[in-house]
Amino acid sequence: MDGADFDLRRGEVLAVIGDNGAGKSTMIKALCGAVIPDEGTIWLDGKEIHFHSPLDARQAGIETVYQTLAVAPAMDIAGNLFLGREERKKGLVGQLFRTLDHKRMRQEAKRQLDALGVATVQDIRQLVETLSGGQRQAVAVARAAMFARKLAIMDEPTAALGVRESGMVLDLIRRIRDNGLPVVLISHNMPHVFEIADRIHVHRLGKRVAVVKPDDYAMNEVVALMTGALRLTASGELVDQKDGNPRNGG
Ligand SMILES: Nc1ncnc2c1ncn2[C@@H]1O[C@H](COP(=O)(O)OP(=O)(O)OP(=O)(O)O)[C@@H](O)[C@H]1O
Ligand SMILES: [Mg+2]
Repeated sequence: MDGADFDLRRGEVLAVIGDNGAGKSTMIKALCGAVIPDEGTIWLDGKEIHFHSPLDARQAGIETVYQTLAVAPAMDIAGNLFLGREERKKGLVGQLFRTLDHKRMRQEAKRQLDALGVATVQDIRQLVETLSGGQRQAVAVARAAMFARKLAIMDEPTAALGVRESGMVLDLIRRIRDNGLPVVLISHNMPHVFEIADRIHVHRLGKRVAVVKPDDYAMNEVVALMTGALRLTASGELVDQKDGNPRNGG
């Protein structure tokens, strides 16, 4: 990354697209504390922030869903949702014996999944290894939505999923956005990006080269920005990268 700009607005789905190796994951890792940038500043709600670990970012309300399905298959759904954030029983029992409040966690997990419209999950005590790929991803996305107070970042959440399952995860992202939480979505799937993004951030060779609205440009034009065939001028015109001529030859 070198001079990479990034901005995210309240309540939007911002898609981040770019070729393999463009620096998307690296940029996102800087935002979620997994990589510490050598220079530059990150601002959250008008305050400069410095993350030294992913835990710092989580404490600041930033949740990340990684491309590799980050769930614990041998645990049930409620266990996965509260993984690393288990709630203890109130009072002395919880304090002294560190007894977990399974009942409360299950109730809360059920409430959250219902609120997010994950209707296909029948039993909150079902082991995650018995779920379909899409349902597992829905659990990972729901976990991010439960604990993210500022933003949720998703790196290729639909890459491993079929059509129906992808649709489910996209619906979930839309619902998270509609609940007021901004979502950063890294994706190589242009139809998904065009379906769900409010704005599209195009990353190329370690930098942001354009931010466009899906309604303003065609899919093949955005792909051309991504591969470097076309460039976006300050006035929003698409021109040839090499000779600067307008895309349609004037
Ligand atoms: N800490 C680092 N120091 C130097 N180079 C790095 C570091 N981390 C990543 N890179 C390089 O930066 C480039 C961008 O990698 P990154 O994983 O961010 O790409 P990406 O846009 O997410 O690609 P993909 O679409 O394949 O996931 C790669 O060439 C990678 O080798
Ligand atoms: Mg990546």
